[in-house]
Amino acid sequence: MCGIIGYTGKGNAAKIMLDALELLEYRGYDSAGIALLGGNGMRILKSAGRVGDLRKRCKGQDTGGHCGIGHTRWATHGGVCDQNAHPHRFGRVTLIHNGIIENYKELTEKYHLAGKLRSQTDTEVAAAVVDHFYTGDPYSAIRRTVLKLKGTFAFAVLFDDQPDKIFAVRNVSPIVAAITPDGAILSSDVAAIVPFTPDYFVLPEFHVAALSPAGIELFDLSGDREEIVWQKADWDVGQSGKGGYPFYMEKEIMEQPKAVQETILPRIRDGRPDFSEEGIPDRVLAECKRICVIACGTAMHAGLVGKSLIQAMIGIHVDVVMASEFMYNDPVVDGETLVIAISQSGETIDTLEALKFARACGSPSISIVNVRGASIARVSEYVIYTNAGPEIAVASTKAYTTQLAVLYLLTARMAAARGLWSEKTLEGFMQELKRVPDVLKQVLQTKEEIHRLAGAILHARDVFMIGRGLDYSILLEGSLKLKEVSYIHSEAYASGELKHGTIALITEDTPVIAVVTQEKLKSKELSNIREVQSRGARVLLLIKEGEALEEGEGLSCVYRLPRMEDPFMVMPASVVLQLIAYYVSSDKGLDVDKPRNLAKVVTVE
Ligand code: G6P
Repeated sequence: MCGIIGYTGKGNAAKIMLDALELLEYRGYDSAGIALLGGNGMRILKSAGRVGDLRKRCKGQDTGGHCGIGHTRWATHGGVCDQNAHPHRFGRVTLIHNGIIENYKELTEKYHLAGKLRSQTDTEVAAAVVDHFYTGDPYSAIRRTVLKLKGTFAFAVLFDDQPDKIFAVRNVSPIVAAITPDGAILSSDVAAIVPFTPDYFVLPEFHVAALSPAGIELFDLSGDREEIVWQKADWDVGQSGKGGYPFYMEKEIMEQPKAVQETILPRIRDGRPDFSEEGIPDRVLAECKRICVIACGTAMHAGLVGKSLIQAMIGIHVDVVMASEFMYNDPVVDGETLVIAISQSGETIDTLEALKFARACGSPSISIVNVRGASIARVSEYVIYTNAGPEIAVASTKAYTTQLAVLYLLTARMAAARGLWSEKTLEGFMQELKRVPDVLKQVLQTKEEIHRLAGAILHARDVFMIGRGLDYSILLEGSLKLKEVSYIHSEAYASGELKHGTIALITEDTPVIAVVTQEKLKSKELSNIREVQSRGARVLLLIKEGEALEEGEGLSCVYRLPRMEDPFMVMPASVVLQLIAYYVSSDKGLDVDKPRNLAKVVTVE
């Protein structure tokens, strides 16, 4: 969380940073600020609110200069106010920070900082410690500070007497850096770098990068120079804009046929699933005795679909564990447990830490990640990239469906590696998987119909979602989507569980969204729908095209999903649920892409 930018070169630093902060805003957006180091000394402009508010704050101010650092914040320590916005300045040191300094109280005492700090942040304490150690040698000050810190951090630091230079260091929280045509830039992620260059590098942990207009130097903590390992971003700038849509979320929903296609097609060879590019040996898929999926949020919901698929089709036990709970539940993973980490950003700290733990226990690991070169991809033994392209809206959509696409491929490869399916079954499965992009297109063509259906819950206070099996798994995600972008309270329930309590909340006119796509569960699901209807619920049903509904099933609204084989029905149904959430949010006039209190990349525990 928190977006970091730094630029030094010939360009206008304030303009470059403000533009970049807008691209990074999805990492946190409760306050923003920049610091400019130049002829007129250090100038800091910061304010609570969005980057747009910071732009207003900059109007009429001296924002000239060619070197600076900028930050967009997701508050951890200290409330949302101007003083707590970054950059923080102490003595001759000005810095920005992403992460949490856990021992900030001890440091405050040790360095007698009480009464000298102007904010409530852990970050200002770090600035004070750097200043304490600074005697003209930035490397030594940074090294000595870092050795005193407990927690996670990505810092970009300016020293008053080091003109044109930015120093950066990190532990866990990400920093990438690049040479631009007229200087050097650093950022929390490649989104802010690709407008300048596709070539970047990931700052290794506990290393110091020194940026100057002439380039970048990299040092380890003992001051020895190191070679930079460059990488190429494969996202083009064109992919980053809104492409004529009012919100990124709509654009990203609409991109799903292409994103899924680009995730699937490169991994199909001669009609069979193929992970040779990723170097995943069949033995990893064939020999594991159980699977443990670790992930957070939407990625965890993708894992739940994977669990249903793999358990049903491969017959091995799959656990899906919220990464934030993994470490606190005495995890049992070993060399026979294949750990699958799923993460769009590849930076979610809970997922990263859980993966590191599993690797230390000897578990083979595969990560499913969208952002190339991200920390989770680097820590994992094998990585499968979802080719979704940049996902900017905080609410994840195309990352989810591409994660599902990878899980279908993995299921098929696992079945083949274990000799479980006949050639015909494998062929049929792969044919159906290849149909997914077209089926998603069909759903997207009906978006105006879905918009109308969404109107039924626009003014609802609570929305319940019910289904069984795979339908329940995707409703968990549908419900999360609705909550996060529309602020409507919503719960997904396994239909059979309703009568154990929650049905008490169903009264006259309560909106219920029901998904019925699995033939073997259909009659039970329809009975559960009747149960809520007889308590007055207003039901919106998503059901396959051509499925007969009896007279008296009295459903107020029915959406017909294009037909696929049952295991694949989650794909079209998920897209309908995404569009419902999207339209409710946009019709309420909310900031769809940046829901309150959220951030897209969660790098604090
Ligand atoms: C945040 C985002 C969610 C995302 C979750 C996990 O909460 O807002 O959209 O699902 O983090 O993120 P990851 O990058 O690991 O998929």
